[in-house]
Amino acid sequence: MSQTGPGQERPRFPDQLRKMPMRERREALRAALSPSEEEWDSLCAGPHLLELADLMVESAVGCLPVPIGIASGFIIDGEELSIPMAVEEPSVIAAASYAARLVRQGGGFVTSATEPVMAAQIFLDGVDDTAAAALHSRSREVGEMVDASQPSMKSRGGGFRGMETLRLPDTGILRVEVLMDVRDAMGANVLNTVAESLRVPLERWSGGRCLMGILSNAARRRRARAGFSLPVNRLRAAAGSTYTPEEVARRIVRAGELARDDDERAVTHNKGIMNGISSLGLLGNPDSARLARVAAALGLAQNLAAVLALVTGGIQRGHMKYHAARLAYKAGARGDEIRAVAEQLGARMIFTVGEAERALNRLRGQDGA
Ligand code: MEV
Repeated sequence: MSQTGPGQERPRFPDQLRKMPMRERREALRAALSPSEEEWDSLCAGPHLLELADLMVESAVGCLPVPIGIASGFIIDGEELSIPMAVEEPSVIAAASYAARLVRQGGGFVTSATEPVMAAQIFLDGVDDTAAAALHSRSREVGEMVDASQPSMKSRGGGFRGMETLRLPDTGILRVEVLMDVRDAMGANVLNTVAESLRVPLERWSGGRCLMGILSNAARRRRARAGFSLPVNRLRAAAGSTYTPEEVARRIVRAGELARDDDERAVTHNKGIMNGISSLGLLGNPDSARLARVAAALGLAQNLAAVLALVTGGIQRGHMKYHAARLAYKAGARGDEIRAVAEQLGARMIFTVGEAERALNRLRGQDGA
């Protein structure tokens, strides 16, 4: 796609882009950016998906394809599972399958989940010390209002589960949490509707002013857990000749302790876990307890594969293998050329598009030699 550099004009879109029909909007985009055929095709989708995109977001111009692969070899709570994952980061699915094969040697993942209780938060400003008690005396009324407004949630076995309050220390704002069991729903619409519908009555009973009402995405009460056990000698292959399996096991444990000890490291540690969870999440909301448990196992598999690599030989060798293939493709290699160019990048340990182009030229005998 034509890029703007210093001194070049930025592409201009019509002011009324959002009001145009999708077809015209896409034409305007094409005229402004002059994409190659390949770039244009990759932004496209069948007409049905375009129609859906147009309904979902303002000024839609296309859909972005994300690779979907299958992570296989999982045993979760005694059941053999293959898990679809939508992800563009090259080694994620390979890592999940690797960890799944390792963990199955110890019997697989064991998971559990709490009841799906989420919180709608209503924040009340300008309250005095009597407000919390005043609201608690209305707790039953709040519950009846919530359940009456969400009858289908109630009929599915969910609904109001309680109310908690906390006076926040710095602002003095009173946080009211209305707890709801949202069953297999993600719950955002239900919780936000409840939070907004309670603004007026809670203001009246507390004497405060509502600043906002919204669900909490912290979801601390709605948890899925996954674990596994593995005989230490199963780590022999990963240990190689540098470490004993016992050392690898200790180093894995130490990596977990490190993430607890250092927030900066914890973010990356957790990013590895989310590689698994978000790849499943992108395919649909993993809201049911069963899917949440699978997602937890998948996240743990990612974490195990990442940490195991990090505390032994590092991750770059595996990562670069996939990265090299992508660079080869970017450089124009197709079919069998991709593997050949990627191998040359690996042999030279230079991972740039320029090097991939040179390797491709050599392969095609176009290097003038
Ligand atoms: C890369 O996508 C994920 C890792 O950085 C996770 C980690 O550092 O634990 C390898």
